[in-house]
Amino acid sequence: MKPLFKGKHFITLEEWKKPEIDKLLEVSFKMKEYFYNNEDTTFLKNKTAFLMFFEQSTRTRNSMEAGLAQLGGHATFLDTSKMQISHGESAKDTAKILSSYGHGIACRNCFWGIGNDFLREMAKNSSVPIMNLQCDLYHPMQGLADLMTIQEVFKETKHLKVSIIWAYATTHKKPISVPLTQILLFPRYAMDVTLAYPEGYDLPDWAIKQAKKHAEENGGSFKITHNMEEAFKDADVVIPKNWGSWVNNQSDEVVDDLLESYKGWKCTEDMIALASPNVKYMHALPADRGNEVEDSVIDGEHSIVYLEAENRIHTAKAVMAMTMGDK
Ligand code: CP
Repeated sequence: MKPLFKGKHFITLEEWKKPEIDKLLEVSFKMKEYFYNNEDTTFLKNKTAFLMFFEQSTRTRNSMEAGLAQLGGHATFLDTSKMQISHGESAKDTAKILSSYGHGIACRNCFWGIGNDFLREMAKNSSVPIMNLQCDLYHPMQGLADLMTIQEVFKETKHLKVSIIWAYATTHKKPISVPLTQILLFPRYAMDVTLAYPEGYDLPDWAIKQAKKHAEENGGSFKITHNMEEAFKDADVVIPKNWGSWVNNQSDEVVDDLLESYKGWKCTEDMIALASPNVKYMHALPADRGNEVEDSVIDGEHSIVYLEAENRIHTAKAVMAMTMGDK
């Protein structure tokens, strides 16, 4: 398989043209077929990548590690608290050194106002592709898997009503990168996207402007509501998920009065009943069960969360196979 986008950084899908994303999706579906048919996929034989994590991960780490092994290569997991970064070594020096040892560098750094800049600094100084495993602004690996899942289930995405809905959770103050990636990506595929959240949980103005532009250019639509029921009503896909109030409040504190005032923003059976009879419930996971969503919904007939999570490995393999070739 030819690495068509050899050396291209994967930091945000905003920097990938639509035909390039289409190609990544095509390869992702092929990877899935190869996986189920037990076919050889050693397209990255002897290639190596470094996976740097500033935060915890289940899906992202393991889809990348298992994915690269299945491509014939090897991924080295790096806990950044055990790297010299924790003693102040720069992103520049880290990128220069690691890129001289292998064929790709992937990194998760979700610190608000820091994560994306860190990846950009590595990209400036790396001779190999930098892959974003989630930063403060974007989660392109998740976005690509979400898009693959929607295409797989619905085939046609034009005018699908997709509602990205804030939900109450207390586990940690989550990045805005998942909903931000989704509002930027889905209108490019002509979906009718509704973003719903209570006052105080805004996404950045520039992202809203860009989401509207994508909708206008691609025949979809984009709107914002602060009414949860309106977002659920007649939706084909609902993605109720928590995110932090980072845009308005940069404190790391997880639970505050604002959050507690919105406990009612939960995906319940009653909310699902407002949606299309064939509605699909999605969540990037991990879910805060009992807070963001009732068990009966996430475990119920409308849920496609395990398909969505599974597709993380097929899309991760596609991104690596297409960007990490011979140096
Ligand atoms: N959805 C997602 O990125 O999961 P992890 O945090 O487990 O990697």
